Amino acid sequence: MRVYDLILNKRDNKKLNKKEIDFLIEGFTNGDIPDYQISALAMAIYFNGMNDRETADLTMAMARSGDQIDLSLIDGVKVDKHSTGGVGDTTSLVLVPLVSAAGLPVAKMSGRGLGHTGGTIDKLESIPGFKTDLSMNKFIENVNQIKAAIAGQTGNLTPADKKLYSLRDVTATVDSIPLIASSIMSKKIAGGADGIVLDVKVGSGAFMKSLESAEKLAHIMVNIGNKLGRKTIAVLTDMEQPLGNAVGNNLEVKEAIKTLKGNGPKDLEELCLTLGANMLLIGKRVDNYKDGYQLLKGLIKSNKAYQQFKKIVKNQGGDLNYIEDPDKFKKAEYKVSIEAKESGYIDKLNALEIGLAAMLVGAGREKKGDKILNEVGVIVNKKYGEKVKKGDKLATLYYNSDKNLEQALGKLNRSFTISNNSVKKRNLVYKIIE
Ligand code: URA
Ligand code: CA
Repeated sequence: MRVYDLILNKRDNKKLNKKEIDFLIEGFTNGDIPDYQISALAMAIYFNGMNDRETADLTMAMARSGDQIDLSLIDGVKVDKHSTGGVGDTTSLVLVPLVSAAGLPVAKMSGRGLGHTGGTIDKLESIPGFKTDLSMNKFIENVNQIKAAIAGQTGNLTPADKKLYSLRDVTATVDSIPLIASSIMSKKIAGGADGIVLDVKVGSGAFMKSLESAEKLAHIMVNIGNKLGRKTIAVLTDMEQPLGNAVGNNLEVKEAIKTLKGNGPKDLEELCLTLGANMLLIGKRVDNYKDGYQLLKGLIKSNKAYQQFKKIVKNQGGDLNYIEDPDKFKKAEYKVSIEAKESGYIDKLNALEIGLAAMLVGAGREKKGDKILNEVGVIVNKKYGEKVKKGDKLATLYYNSDKNLEQALGKLNRSFTISNNSVKKRNLVYKIIE
C-alpha cells in the first residue's frame, strides 16, 4: 500500500476501505507517515467527504491508536458529555457537579480551548491549585469516592486525534463533518463511557453554521455510538450568540458558581438542565426526561449542586476560598465597555467575533502552546432580542495590556447589530436526535 495512492483515491472522490484507513492512522500515529501527506489527505476529505462506513472506520482506527480506558471499576452507568465547541460555553463546569449530585457517576474527560472556542480544562485551571492531570487510578478513585472527576486527556488517549487535530487547526480543515465526528467519537469511545450526550452547536460561534450541517453531523455521531453499543443522543443547540454572559476562563468559573447557586444566566441554566436530564435518562437514573429535569432543578435550589462542585474542587486540589468568595479571583487590570449607538433591539450578536475578541486579549490561544490569561475576556451585557437605549452598555472587555486592544474592540463593536423593530426570541434547543 502506498500513501500516495490513497491520497490520490480520496482526491478523486473514491472510497477508502477499512484496511486502508487503519494503515493511514497507524502510520501517522507511529510517525511513519509525515504530516504533509496527512494534511493533504485531510484536505481531500474536507472537499470530498466520507460516507458513514468510512467515518465509522476512521473513528475506530483513531480510538484504537492509544490507550482505551476501562471504567468498569466505577459502579453504575457511566455517561459522558461532549460539546462540539462554542463561545462562553460554560456548560461542563455546571453540568458535572449537577448531574453527579443526582447520583450518576461522571468521569469527564475534557479538552483545552483552541482558536475562538474555550476549553473546560483551561477554565478549571484558573482556580488556584486545581489539578487536571490526574493519573488514571486517581481519576477512577475520585469518581468512586464522590461520583465525579474532571481530567484532561491523559497522555496516550487517541494520539492520532491529537496529531490530526493540530494539523487541521493550521490547514483550514477543522469544519469537516467526517473529521469532527471521528475526532469526537474516537475520544468518547476510547474514554470508556457507556452512554454519550452530545451538545452539537449551531451558529456563528460553532463549527457548523447551519442547522442542516449540524443535523448531519449529529446523525453520524449518534449512529456510530449506538452501533458500538454506547447509547448516544445529540442535542442541537444555539451558538449564534455566546452562552450566558461570561466569555473567558475565571469569568466563566464565576458564572458557573452563580448558576450552581441558582442565580446564573437563564440560558446557561436551561441548557444544563436539558443536557443533564438527558444524561440521567441515558444513565437510567430516571424513567423520563421530565423527572430528570425536575430532579436537577431541585438540586440547584437545595444548594446540593453547589456543594458537589466544592467537593470536586477540593478533591482535585483547588483552593475553596476562591469558590466561597469569588471576588478573590484575580481581576484584569483594565476594562472598557462598548455602548449602543442607537436605541432599539439587539438583532444580531455574533459569537465568533466575541470569541475572537476574547482570544485576542489573551483568553485563548492563537496557536498551540500559547500561554493564556485567566482573568481576561468579555462580559456580554445585552443578549439577542433585548431592548436597548442609546448609550447602554452592550459588552465589557477585560484586558491587561494594549496589545491587540484596537482589534478586539473593533470585533466587539462589529458583533452587535441593533434594529428598530422588536425581534423574535431565539431557540436555545433546536432538536434532539436519538
Ligand atoms: N471538538 C473535537 O474534539 N474535535 C473536533 O474536531 C471539533 C470539536
Ligand atoms: Ca458563558
